[in-house]
Amino acid sequence: MDKIRIRGGKPLRGTIPIGGAKNAALPLMTASLLTEGTLTLANLPHLADITTLANLLAQHGVDLRMDGHSPNGGHTGRVLSLTAKRISNTTAPYDLVRKMRASILVLGPLLARAGKARVSLPGGCAIGTRPVDLHLKGLQQLGARIELKEGYIDAEAPNGLSGAEIVFPSVSVGATENLLMAATLAGGETVLANAAREPEVTDLAVCLQAMGARIEGVGSDTLRIQGARSLSGTRHDIVPDRIEAGTYAMAAAIAGGEVELAGARPELMHAALEIIRQAGATVTPTKSGIMIRRIAGALRGTDVMTEPFPGFPTDLQAQIMALLTTAEGASMITETIFENRFMHVPELRRMGANINLHGASAMVRGVPRLTGAPVMATDLRASVSLVLAGLVAEGETLVNRVYHLDRGYERLEEKLAACGAEIERVKEAAA
Ligand code: EPZ
Repeated sequence: MDKIRIRGGKPLRGTIPIGGAKNAALPLMTASLLTEGTLTLANLPHLADITTLANLLAQHGVDLRMDGHSPNGGHTGRVLSLTAKRISNTTAPYDLVRKMRASILVLGPLLARAGKARVSLPGGCAIGTRPVDLHLKGLQQLGARIELKEGYIDAEAPNGLSGAEIVFPSVSVGATENLLMAATLAGGETVLANAAREPEVTDLAVCLQAMGARIEGVGSDTLRIQGARSLSGTRHDIVPDRIEAGTYAMAAAIAGGEVELAGARPELMHAALEIIRQAGATVTPTKSGIMIRRIAGALRGTDVMTEPFPGFPTDLQAQIMALLTTAEGASMITETIFENRFMHVPELRRMGANINLHGASAMVRGVPRLTGAPVMATDLRASVSLVLAGLVAEGETLVNRVYHLDRGYERLEEKLAACGAEIERVKEAAA
């Protein structure tokens, strides 16, 4: 298994191209199940999770074709065309769903288009139990009959789904996306209240509108959908990845130097950019993205709380913690979205960080320096936080289990090395 080797202490200088958002691309790909037409997605990132979902969609009968590349901001993304002329199989098997929880996003579209779906129940994962009750309750409110049998969700709506008013008791990105897709083909009006407002949800809604769906309130917490008999294909550019951009912004702030994030959209990242400013880096919007600069001066401690959008994203919590380990003073980081998203803490401690956990909060007291160590993490964002720590640690850091990084960061080591970081991928035999 590959590893990433980093020798810390090099400032970063240069430009990092930001790719299309993984968490927008995944629901957008499942939206192809809603139409007989061809959905062409441009600015698609090249990631393991995208391949996993492509395999799942193929076995539902979707014809997938790579249509080359197209430039988008600072990045040249891939173009993928998906055509679900006929849905040949409505079962999403355990073997594929267990590889990636986002597979649950086929449930709403399959049910709405084919009238039935059998999807393996995703299990818990490293960051929490992550139930799917909100997805299931919402679909039941749209008239689906749902049974849980032998580890599978068995859902049926032989006469189609019908619109309803759904008030989510708490904000869920995935449940909003599943219900939004299902509602586009349900009879009559559906209202989704207390819906997630994440830019990835908005990107999906914009694409669905281009496919002919009638959706009001896009970007707000109340979505009003008038169901249609059918949707058509379209071409859609996937929104740039605000989490990838935020991760590299924090890399520049922790390592020092000056990095332009080409293609990043500052208006989607207010909360994260504000925290990076408070921590002592300069953030300047540019014509093509965002410039992050920290030339002199220490990092400063600051408090952070994760929240649904527009709050500070949970997907940047591990990375900001890595940054604050070497900041002057103390920082309190509170995780409110997932109950177990501090798996990076013991590994950061092994690199010399001073972090104490108190329930959902981590108290980080800045230390003058971190030291390199062999480390590993159990999820994508925790892994990348160790890479960030490695960029400033004295000596060598070897990050194991690189497959986590490959799920969500395209050419991570190349992008950082191009800005002067001493970082390389080591094949298992050579490590
Ligand atoms: C999405 O997951 C993202 N994944 C996650 O990114 C992200 O961390 C998360 O949203 C929060 O922003 C994708 O978009 C593919 P949720 P999702 O439903 O949709 C609870 C990454 O690193 N909940 O908004 O699964 C849940 O347990 C990943 O890229 C229920 O209780 O997240 C959690 O505590 C990791 N019942 C909270 O809601 C439900 O039915 C928010 O989860 C659904 C969720």
